[in-house]
Amino acid sequence: MNKIIKEQIAQLRPSATLAINEECNRLKRGGKKIYKFGFGQSPFPVPESVVLSLKNNADKHNYLPMQGLEELRAAIAEDLNKNNNNNNFEQDDIVIGPGTKELMLLTQIVFKGDILLPAPSWVSYQPQALIAKNKVYWIQTTSKNNWFPTASQIEDQVKKIKSENLLLFINSPNNPSGTVCNNLQEITEVAKKYKMIILSDEIYSQLNFNDQYKSISNFYPQGTIVSSGLSKWCGAGGWRLGFFAIPKQLKNFKNSLKILCSESFTSVSAPIQYAAVEAYKGDHSKYLNAVKKILSFTANYVYENLKSNAINISKPEGGFYLFPEFNNAKFSSSPEMCRDILNKTGAALLPGSDFGLESNKMIARLSYTDFDGANFLKNTLGSKKLDTEDLKKYAPNIVAGVAAIKDWSNSL
Ligand SMILES: Cc1ncc(COP(=O)(O)O)c(C=O)c1O
Repeated sequence: MNKIIKEQIAQLRPSATLAINEECNRLKRGGKKIYKFGFGQSPFPVPESVVLSLKNNADKHNYLPMQGLEELRAAIAEDLNKNNNNNNFEQDDIVIGPGTKELMLLTQIVFKGDILLPAPSWVSYQPQALIAKNKVYWIQTTSKNNWFPTASQIEDQVKKIKSENLLLFINSPNNPSGTVCNNLQEITEVAKKYKMIILSDEIYSQLNFNDQYKSISNFYPQGTIVSSGLSKWCGAGGWRLGFFAIPKQLKNFKNSLKILCSESFTSVSAPIQYAAVEAYKGDHSKYLNAVKKILSFTANYVYENLKSNAINISKPEGGFYLFPEFNNAKFSSSPEMCRDILNKTGAALLPGSDFGLESNKMIARLSYTDFDGANFLKNTLGSKKLDTEDLKKYAPNIVAGVAAIKDWSNSL
């Protein structure tokens, strides 16, 4: 029956994530305790005022404009401009979609040219490029440069490519490494030189642990598309609301994207868009500060407890993830290593090869969100500083799972 499937779709394979999930379920059925360190979802509830706004807008039932609710686009543009001194987005530059993943897929369909992906990169960029038949060029990064490409690595790769149209993905804070890009300016110099478009995936930007988040669009406003949404900072992944902010210089691209939006999902669910106005207009600093305090404390606990001669790991700077490299591990591939960790410790990690790294690198992504965020938040909201006792009480799986991984690494 393969003849009814397009070649590029038939090439797609279920990711190792799925295999790990199946293995988790098998072990769970056998009574094994599982630490869910493979999942990339916010453990926190949506802020109350945003939930209330959704309730109050449940009666909104009309289709909305294909580009998104005007009031929401204006609120997003204003929010972006507050943190971005060189860009001046207007509501007409914003496109709303059912999550940024969908907007990225449509972007791959619109875009004619080649794709530059840093390795490691988020799991969906490459399959989406395959679906749209765009060629992907990987740039292997290292922990020395915080897991981001250097300008010369980008330039070396560009010189090998024939295409004049290039789309470079930059995701900071980064999934899977948990690091922040500290060479944005030099990246923009090459981007300008070769007239690239940058897709700046800023889905974790509000979860940057120091409060000085810089978008690459500050340095290259004319060529950067900013991608973000409610999924991570607002704990609302299941609401499916994301946006692109597209500079006026890329107006034709935006217009084509809009047409694909209207020919695919029409417009994002109306109540969700109305509720999102509150997410972007309201003051959620208390919620965000508390969420970041918990995430950065937990991240640093995992980092301090794992890092050793046997485990290299970059300091956590934002988001939900750490990217430990096990120096003594001798497995044929990172998926095989992750299977061994899961079987021996119950900790589910995702192999580095899922993120574009060579599979012989003994690296895995660890998501430190296996705790009840609502309970952790409620019980520590007023407290000034967190300590290990809080973690033991409100995130016991993190403490036990990390100890088990450490023991596993020591036993190698
Ligand atoms: C780096 C990165 N980009 C984009 C997304 C997709 O987010 P959305 O829920 O907006 O589709 C995710 C979600 O896991 C992600 O980790």
